[in-house]
Amino acid sequence: MSIRVSEGLFRLDTADTTYLFQKNAFAHLEHLHYGRKLPEGDVESLRQKHELTQGSAVLYDEKADPSYCLEEIPLEWSGVGKGDFRVSPAELKLPDGSFTCDFVLDSYRIEAGAPKMQTLPSAAGENAETLIVTLKDKAFSVYLDLYYSVYEAENVITRRAVLRNAEEQPVLIKKLMSYSIDLPDRKYSVATLSGGWISEANVIERPLLTGAIVNESTSFSQHRNNPALALIEHGATDDTGSVYGFNLVYGGNHQTTVELSPVGLVRVTGGINPYCFLWELKGGETFETPEAVLTYSAHGKNGMSQNFHAFVQKQIVRGDWQTKERPILINNWEANFFQFRQNSLLRLAKHGKRLGCELFVLDDGWFGARNTDTAGLGDYTVNRKKLPNGLDGLGARINGLGMRFGLWFEPENVNDDSDLYRAHPDWAIQRPNRTPSLGRHQKMLDLTKREVRDYLVENVTHILDSAPISYVKWDMNRKVSDFLDGAFLHRYELGYYEVLTRIFEPRPKILLEGCASGGSRFDLGHLCFAQQIWASDDTDPIERLKIQGGLSLFYPVSTMGAHVSMAPHQQTLRDTPLFTRFAVAAFGAFGLELDPLDLKPVERKVIKSLLEQYRSIRQTCQFGRFSRIETGDPHIVQWQAQTEKQTVVLRVRTLVPAARANDLLEIRGLDPEKTYTLRQVQSPLFVGAFGTLLKHILPVKLRSYSHLLLTADKYAKMDDYAEEYRASGAQLMSGVRLHRSFIGTGYSDKMHMQGDFGAMLFVVTED
Ligand code: DGJ
Repeated sequence: MSIRVSEGLFRLDTADTTYLFQKNAFAHLEHLHYGRKLPEGDVESLRQKHELTQGSAVLYDEKADPSYCLEEIPLEWSGVGKGDFRVSPAELKLPDGSFTCDFVLDSYRIEAGAPKMQTLPSAAGENAETLIVTLKDKAFSVYLDLYYSVYEAENVITRRAVLRNAEEQPVLIKKLMSYSIDLPDRKYSVATLSGGWISEANVIERPLLTGAIVNESTSFSQHRNNPALALIEHGATDDTGSVYGFNLVYGGNHQTTVELSPVGLVRVTGGINPYCFLWELKGGETFETPEAVLTYSAHGKNGMSQNFHAFVQKQIVRGDWQTKERPILINNWEANFFQFRQNSLLRLAKHGKRLGCELFVLDDGWFGARNTDTAGLGDYTVNRKKLPNGLDGLGARINGLGMRFGLWFEPENVNDDSDLYRAHPDWAIQRPNRTPSLGRHQKMLDLTKREVRDYLVENVTHILDSAPISYVKWDMNRKVSDFLDGAFLHRYELGYYEVLTRIFEPRPKILLEGCASGGSRFDLGHLCFAQQIWASDDTDPIERLKIQGGLSLFYPVSTMGAHVSMAPHQQTLRDTPLFTRFAVAAFGAFGLELDPLDLKPVERKVIKSLLEQYRSIRQTCQFGRFSRIETGDPHIVQWQAQTEKQTVVLRVRTLVPAARANDLLEIRGLDPEKTYTLRQVQSPLFVGAFGTLLKHILPVKLRSYSHLLLTADKYAKMDDYAEEYRASGAQLMSGVRLHRSFIGTGYSDKMHMQGDFGAMLFVVTED
């Protein structure tokens, strides 16, 4: 039993954590502890002492207790107007027209599993236990159910709040968060994933000083700020110290506030963004807030990440692909953009197949008049000029090559220049009295309307059932504008979940990849439907170290779409080695996003061999226990993924210093007693990259532009030195001294020849 209640003390235990709160003398829920696991016993040492109050304090009930001031009490929930001036989790206009409210304990119950939500997606509830604490406003029959679902094995507690209006008059919800928790100040810093288009999920860590840090979005979960957030105790590292993680199972406008109050309490509250939000809750109605996911680890950021990864893989991601290795895909977008014909697609697929791809994805441009991004969006009728045999014909040919077939859609948006918009201009979100603001030349469809939802479901399912489609990329390329209010945006999100449920729940075999101009809408709400999400339109591996590395704080590798594309990179112009592009994408839902015929013949050979090898490490990379390894060098990024028998280590050097000292490779998590073989995956060296430096290796001098060299560059390669050792886990974990790197003083075939952006990939296998 992970939930116990006795004499007003509520105790929630996971494998390594304890969460405690208590009903106090005023029937408020006083928070006592969330953190490392505690034995049962007296909790007096955990209780906030309040013999004295601040000179300016507003006392809750002076007569009953002249030292009880809500501002100074750690609470599980707080109201408005009773002396707590911190960020409130709720702003409700009650039937007396006032925002003053005061929620006190009414009753509680415990249920096995996690009750399914009526309107929103939520965690699966497998092996969970749920405590439902009901609070009631002291003046009105307005109830608040606080749900705490305990996931013991995953060290996660989910929280959400449901408001019930048992009055006859309506209650106006201006703000209703999913949870609120007050922790003691431990000199935290707050980490968020922030950025923008093609620079998503960069980790921003800032100290929490008195005042509030707000992580929010006003247009869905968005590139700008991911809903996830970490609270890192002073001194905590990747592997040590206390770290709390918070996330939301929601892709709409979100807000999480972390506030350090002057008395040294840290309040974290998160949920739907109150931005422009007004929701009338009529008598007898209820309002559900999204489920929030909380975790704690005493083992640093990696500990927090591993808790989240296990939880997301087991309780959030669902469908037939939940635990399956993701197929190696080839997507035609960067190879073709809108210019293709059936034959060119088949050629692409055939070459992809030769390299080892397992799934061919036809991206944008296959329907209607969609030959640029200015027209055709909304008209999902196959363009017969491009695809004379239709999707079923193309799909059958792709299947005939031994590959699965996947298709792109962007159902939520419409171009003005489309038959759909011409027929139903009233289906687009716009204001009658204003010129609409477009994003990527398109308007959003109003998913709050039943007829729009029905149309989308019918339209998309008709296509899905008309061809052998086993993968869908669901894109969404604009932010919201011209909307009514925040409540409308929440209704939109509910409509969107309904559409996804109706399309994909009856089709669990389809692998769904979410996408929104790259990595916008990367969140747990979407992961309840999509098994993976395209992490960014930026496929430059050096940028991806930040993006995938950032996402890995909260999301497992298996959920991050990651592809190898051409270099120089289309957005950064950075020229990175093919091997690095491969090795970074290997820690993701892997694919190619290029035309194989743009690769040199020797590069095609290399990719083929790498994909072959990838199949033997894919399970580990995508589903293994993932850690970021601190190297102490800002220019070396190291990741590792581990299953019981295999460890895969990626090490990328983003900037090479001259005459550098010996490199030490650190590996974690091996059994000191066992014997392992460490093998480095052979990384190719293309002669063209070395120019006149080849004089160090070749007996003859060649001009860098000589025909011989250019031809050799096309067809021949050398290999970088590949390390290999057989040793105990203890020895490998004490650091592997790698062979020296080229510094211009000579050449040996036992040296490494990688420059800036060079990657190394090591596979450690138990004997
Ligand atoms: C944006 C996506 O991120 C790309 O991968 C591609 O699918 C385009 N949309 C297509 O319009």
